[in-house]
Amino acid sequence: MDVFPLPVARIGIIGGGQLGRMLAKAAKRLGCTCVVLDPTPGSPAGQVAGHQIVGAYHDPAKLRELAESCDVTTFDIEDIDTATLLQLEREGHRVLPSPRVLALIQDKLTQKQALAEAGIPTAPFIPMPEPSPEAFAAHGYPLVQKARRGGYDGRGVSIMKTPEDYGRHLPLPSLLERFIPAEKELAVVVARGLDGDCRCYPVVEMRFRPGENVLDLLLAPARITPETAEAAARLAVRTVEVLGGIGIFGVEMFLTEDGGLLVNEVAPRTHNSGHHTIEANVTDQFEQHLRAVVGLPLGATDQLSPAAMINLLGAPGHRGRPVIKGMAEALAIPGVCLHLYGKAATAPFRKMGHVTVLDPDIEMAERKAMRVRDLIEISGEDHP
Ligand SMILES: Nc1ncnc2c1ncn2[C@@H]1O[C@H](COP(=O)(O)OP(=O)(O)OP(=O)(O)O)[C@@H](O)[C@H]1O
Ligand SMILES: [Mg+2]
Repeated sequence: MDVFPLPVARIGIIGGGQLGRMLAKAAKRLGCTCVVLDPTPGSPAGQVAGHQIVGAYHDPAKLRELAESCDVTTFDIEDIDTATLLQLEREGHRVLPSPRVLALIQDKLTQKQALAEAGIPTAPFIPMPEPSPEAFAAHGYPLVQKARRGGYDGRGVSIMKTPEDYGRHLPLPSLLERFIPAEKELAVVVARGLDGDCRCYPVVEMRFRPGENVLDLLLAPARITPETAEAAARLAVRTVEVLGGIGIFGVEMFLTEDGGLLVNEVAPRTHNSGHHTIEANVTDQFEQHLRAVVGLPLGATDQLSPAAMINLLGAPGHRGRPVIKGMAEALAIPGVCLHLYGKAATAPFRKMGHVTVLDPDIEMAERKAMRVRDLIEISGEDHP
């Protein structure tokens, strides 16, 4: 009979996407085993974990099966049935970050209200339960409408400059925010351990392509003054402490034209703005998350090299099995670290992978990342 060593911990991961995949890799390195819950068989995280429960994130029986087979349950997505998670937590299952924090964050309105009540600076906002042209006009343009639930990668966000843009509104329970003309968008990945120890990664700078809300380019560290970096780190830590979360949190911010900082939103999970930490930092965000939820000491967050990161998105007009072009040319560039997520099918703008470029000169890292973006194309076997 085969004899396997006892795992350090059995980790349950709700969500089988790229974040879960990178978490599972970190978990295996630390001698943990993983089970993934995802509706798609052979999900990116399921492939690495080696064990997947095929089921929905809203299926109470499947969530229970996962929690019962693991020492700690965590997640790589936000759209989960929190009522079941709360019940499992009451029964003594360890679910981290806490389902209470997830429930608060998963509704963008309650998230903003909690931040505002704690005195965390955010864009001014009002609840918008039933959108109407009059209510939008009363709030004033330019404005940003956000769906309370279910949005990601900018899909639940609509930016409207004038009343003529009202046609683009989301017919959903939502909130309206003042449009912030930001100088830069920043993000801070924060880890909080079971003992309350809090560590953050150096502040990064995010660039978005106009019209598409998916992160286009990330630069780490951000090109900002040391004072701004310090203030952003302090604000991010305070935000996570206010929410009381355990694990990794991504805190997105606006740096305003007058040098102020506003928290845009918080993600209760590993974050796109921390992918470069796999190669660029002493402890990457995935291992750090694992250390936090298992109750191990947090690792050093020091950055060892400047880095630029781009997402590899599915080409517009393509679906089906991914066809990757330009990979060899990209890998020939020194400092290029390629990650492909093993998704069975591509779709327009779907996150299929990412590339981190390390270079002692951050401007050179940026140029190389732009070159890689031109070189790599992910199309699909089915096209129109
Ligand atoms: N109040 C605002 N003023 C100006 N721009 C905004 C505002 N709120 C959001 N945006 C823009 O829209 C983008 C997406 O918004 P937000 O981060 O709230 O949504 P999301 O769908 O959760 O995004 P993601 O999943 O990509 O993080 C922001 O990164 C920013 O570029
Ligand atoms: Mg965001």
